[in-house]
Amino acid sequence: MIKFELSSDSPAEDNSDCIIVGVYADGELSADAEDLDAVCGHKIAKLCKQGDINGKLEETWLLHDLPGLKSPRVLVVGLGKKAEFGPARYNKACRAAASALGHNIASAGNYLPGIEMDQRSAAWRVRQAAAESIIARYRYTETKSKTEDDNSENKPLTTIKLALDEAADNDCQAALIQGQAIGTGTCLTRELGNLPGNICTPSYLANEARNLADQYDSISCTILEEDEMAELGMDALLSVSRGSRQPAKLIIMEYQGGKNGDAPVALVGKGLTFDAGGISLKPAAAMDEMKFDMCGGASVFGALKACAEMQLPMNVIGVVPSSENLPDGDANKPGDVVTSMSGQTIEVLNTDAEGRLILCDALTYTERFKPVAVVDIATLTGACVVALGAHASGLLSNDDDLADELLSAGETSCDRAWRLPLWDDYQQQLDSNFADMANVGGREAGTITAACFLARYTKNMTWAHLDIAGTAWNKGKGKGASGRPVGLLTEFLMKRAGVS
Ligand code: BES
Ligand code: MN
Ligand code: ZN
Repeated sequence: MIKFELSSDSPAEDNSDCIIVGVYADGELSADAEDLDAVCGHKIAKLCKQGDINGKLEETWLLHDLPGLKSPRVLVVGLGKKAEFGPARYNKACRAAASALGHNIASAGNYLPGIEMDQRSAAWRVRQAAAESIIARYRYTETKSKTEDDNSENKPLTTIKLALDEAADNDCQAALIQGQAIGTGTCLTRELGNLPGNICTPSYLANEARNLADQYDSISCTILEEDEMAELGMDALLSVSRGSRQPAKLIIMEYQGGKNGDAPVALVGKGLTFDAGGISLKPAAAMDEMKFDMCGGASVFGALKACAEMQLPMNVIGVVPSSENLPDGDANKPGDVVTSMSGQTIEVLNTDAEGRLILCDALTYTERFKPVAVVDIATLTGACVVALGAHASGLLSNDDDLADELLSAGETSCDRAWRLPLWDDYQQQLDSNFADMANVGGREAGTITAACFLARYTKNMTWAHLDIAGTAWNKGKGKGASGRPVGLLTEFLMKRAGVS
């Protein structure tokens, strides 16, 4: 675990193993880079002029033994063009800097938080620098026998000092705790997402909830087993699990940071630990990525861990319905009709539209907590990836104020969402000849009809749905869980609690 501290040192006086400063793509140095440059005989400016350092966003240059400095290393981070610099680029630069810290660096002095921005406070800069550093240092190792970090000569990074003039401000001190909490929570989400389906089963997630409850006095958990769910009438959820050898779990976590009896915010996350599609089997290509189908649930774990770490003064409920979706002789079949806990019947026209089947019962269950607001988070539709790609999560809501709150939390945290309509016009696509509704609404507007389905279960609540199918994990060479939307969720909760 990295230790973070705040300081208002000047970079020339800093004796950390490595100093981090930013330069812009137009050759302009940040104020702290300028300070360093002045004491080291303008070496940095020279390298910029020569073109050795081009200041391109997210690129880094490690310089050794600059004259006149106490630190043996300077890591220059590209900030991109000055005119285009802003919060999102600040986050990226922080992340790039923290990942570039390599061999033989135990302590770093990060001067990026000293970069002022019109749109963001010093506290925000501190918070994000801490969070982004932790997120950047995350490595998946659990199922690998050896990693590059096993090299015993390597001094592990133990301390990051965040340096800015406002270091002594109370807001910055609080922000440092918050940033670490968000970073740690996000890493939990990434780790759970990355674990393979044969390890991260519904039972594994249930144990993870028990671990959180053991670790934090402020968190307690309840796990509902299949027989208890059957008693509650959760046949939609159980119908998805029937084709699996792994028992389904309904995981309920309660974070109490507010007063007894204060109505909670509820987060409900899809915890489908592997989605093969069931009898409506998915094609083979990239099916491995369906281990990430529990990332909504993982984001609930991460957000709750962050709440506990920062001792957020409010109450939050986390509900994670967890199951596998596999083909089997006992699996859901197209045409089957199931009855949800709410009493509404569902014709399962496509067994691959299973997320809404487990979520609808979890949402009905959540009503008992009388939440002030419910946000569900789910890798729900491929259509959302087509509509918004990997940059924004889809947002649908039955309440404009809640939607605006979430959109704005996404902007502030640079973990954005984009709203899609939830008009009644779309509801008829779910008409069924054999049940109250079908579980699919045809080819058109797939993300919206999925949300329309959930809307039938949330009429009594102030509710929003985040479709994170495009944002929950990265594809290609850096394949892995992104940890989104923990940034958005924590910002939303912090704002509600009055601490952001
Ligand atoms: N988990 C998938 C959605 C998904 C697909 C997320 C690809 C990320 C990438 C979900 O359970 C699913 O299969 N949805 C179907 C719904 C359809 C049958 C109406 C889909 O999107 O194809
Ligand atoms: Mn599916
Ligand atoms: Zn799914």
